[in-house]
Amino acid sequence: MSKLFDVLNQVVATQNVLYIRLHQFHFYVKGPHFFTLHEKWEEMYDEVTADMDEVAERIIQLKGEPVATLQESLDQSVIKENEADKNLSDREMVEATLEGLKAYRDLAIEAREAAEAEEDEVTVDIFVDLQSRIDLNIWFFEAWLA
Ligand SMILES: [Fe+2]
Repeated sequence: MSKLFDVLNQVVATQNVLYIRLHQFHFYVKGPHFFTLHEKWEEMYDEVTADMDEVAERIIQLKGEPVATLQESLDQSVIKENEADKNLSDREMVEATLEGLKAYRDLAIEAREAAEAEEDEVTVDIFVDLQSRIDLNIWFFEAWLA
């Protein structure tokens, strides 16, 4: 179970950092794609905070302790933040979003596999759903860049 808790906490930490990072892009994006990107990132940070809540509360249901501070999130997240990224171009922000989403998807797969090892079907289900939504966003941003 401790492997599952470790990876679930990495997910929560990553979701917290992703939430902030998506705001950074939402606030600072400039250029002719402002309206679509600004709105897309808003939709994504709203979704990621709901997902974070779901995973954290699943950890509690399993009698674990979810990450609940910014410092733990920064330490354990697979996505890193960078203050200077507010100066990226719109295209670079999309590329950075895509890079983060791919790391997030890899982590979701790892979490699903850890849940499968524990025969925890409810947690497996959470991550099947999460991965399908991350995959959808990866497709959107790849199509935007193409
Ligand atoms: Fe806003």
